Amino acid sequence: MIFQWPVLSEPTRSMAFLFFKDLIARSIVRAEMSSASIKSMRVILAFSAIASAVGGETMTIDLTRPEARQRVYHFGENDILVLGYPVYGGRIPAILREVFQNLKGAETPAILAAVYGNRAYEDALVEGQDTLTENGFVVTAAGAFIGEHSYTEKVGTGRPDVEDLHAAADFGKQIAAKLNKDGPVPITVKGNRPYKDAMGPMPFRPVTTDACDNCGRCAEKCPVGIISKQDAKIVGNGCILCAACVKG
Ligand SMILES: Cc1cc2nc3c(=O)[nH]c(=O)nc-3n(C[C@H](O)[C@H](O)[C@H](O)COP(=O)(O)O)c2cc1C
Ligand code: SF4
Repeated sequence: MIFQWPVLSEPTRSMAFLFFKDLIARSIVRAEMSSASIKSMRVILAFSAIASAVGGETMTIDLTRPEARQRVYHFGENDILVLGYPVYGGRIPAILREVFQNLKGAETPAILAAVYGNRAYEDALVEGQDTLTENGFVVTAAGAFIGEHSYTEKVGTGRPDVEDLHAAADFGKQIAAKLNKDGPVPITVKGNRPYKDAMGPMPFRPVTTDACDNCGRCAEKCPVGIISKQDAKIVGNGCILCAACVKG
């Protein structure tokens, strides 16, 4: 797959989240993690140190695929939500704003992990904090992590790397200690209000080359499900330029 101009599309994107459910809490959400290897997912998995330190059951939900993003997820006060998401234009990606709204907490502690391509994360954390707070969460920790830029392997190459993931794991341990000691306490997150203007639609769409053997991997990876599984030449509107189909 390669990119070709121009088709106007709606800005959207994927997300993954991980939450650690206390053993006494009722199980509300069941989902399988897909094999999609997105950077946000790698960072939040590194946060798993929280799970062992807090002593709860761990449940992972991958919201990369559209089906998983349409549900409403409820969390109780004994749950901890760890939410990982990429930064688009210094904000939460447009596709995820609805997902954030579909997360319902009840004084539930939440931890944010925004992954950005080594330019700037700007208002992505503060926007995440505001949305979750409105929905009943207490954002008790937040971190921004560098990930290889979706557009090019030359920016943030190989990130998050081993060192980043160690830092995330260490951060997870510190958060667990803080939660065990003080419980959920709101924090001040870096960012501006009002947030910077959101990105507009992006006039991109991938096209196949002669090398395409219609294996279906690009369709499988597309977070907005616009590539036909039967014929990769057929691509609908709504590309978010995540490059998952191009990078393979
Ligand atoms: C549409 C779009 C907008 C982006 N905007 C930013 C940005 O404002 N700042 C930044 O540092 N990186 C930006 N990036 C890079 C991503 O945040 C970065 O590549 C991240 O690692 C993507 O994670 P993912 O592969 O888990 O989706 C952008 C990427 C895309 C596709
Ligand atoms: S996988 Fe490809 S077609 Fe789908 S949103 Fe990402 S870049 Fe666009």
